[in-house]
Amino acid sequence: MNARKRTVVLISGRGSNMTALIAAASNPAYPAEIVGVISDRANAAGLGIAAARGIPTKVISRSDYAGKEAHDGAIDAALAAFGAEIVALAGYMRILGARFVEKWQGRMVNIHPALLPAFKGLDTHARALRAGMRIHGCTVHFVTLDMDDGPIIAQAAVPVMVGDNEDTLAARVLKAEHRLYPLALGLVAEGKARMEGGRTVLAHFADDADNGTSVVMAPDPLREETDLEHLARITP
Ligand code: GRF
Repeated sequence: MNARKRTVVLISGRGSNMTALIAAASNPAYPAEIVGVISDRANAAGLGIAAARGIPTKVISRSDYAGKEAHDGAIDAALAAFGAEIVALAGYMRILGARFVEKWQGRMVNIHPALLPAFKGLDTHARALRAGMRIHGCTVHFVTLDMDDGPIIAQAAVPVMVGDNEDTLAARVLKAEHRLYPLALGLVAEGKARMEGGRTVLAHFADDADNGTSVVMAPDPLREETDLEHLARITP
């Protein structure tokens, strides 16, 4: 097996996606290794979770730096110190500057709680509900200069159920995120999903089952939880 790709996760808060990545990478056969976690907020709950799992953490607060460039520079220096090959944004709530993004382009990924290109930005679940969506989900994409705009690597869809509110929908999407992100990071770490000419190039898989999961997936446990008859009645 090739060397596992050294991956650093950037967080700002809860860190549940970070936790899912750490869990996946605890399997030595997984193609990425989580070598560090960086937070821009000292009180991010994810920092304690990472430390408890033996992952080195570092806080790089925006307020300690004169400007965005200097803050990005400190993050870049920390990534170099970790020997990072891949950067995974997981609920990192700050927009990274152009220099940083260009440097890491093709090697930096993000998870967004909506089926991009729909619902870029914040409050995705409330907006999906307001729009009357029957299907919602999450996307892992390469990070490019425009926010939530980079080439899509993988997506997971979940149904919007009658009676859903922002919380119930967010919880269903989050479950999908925790399955999708490890899958997508694995594809990038293995070189099966690459960014080329502004697009994602996916490897041809030997078997269709693998190919399906890389494009659109409905994670099994979610499928089981969904009452299909109920769904059939509400989805035209
Ligand atoms: C997730 O919904 C992610 O998609 C979005 O921010 C949230 C972070 O949650 N970018 P967590 O910190 O991973 O629990």
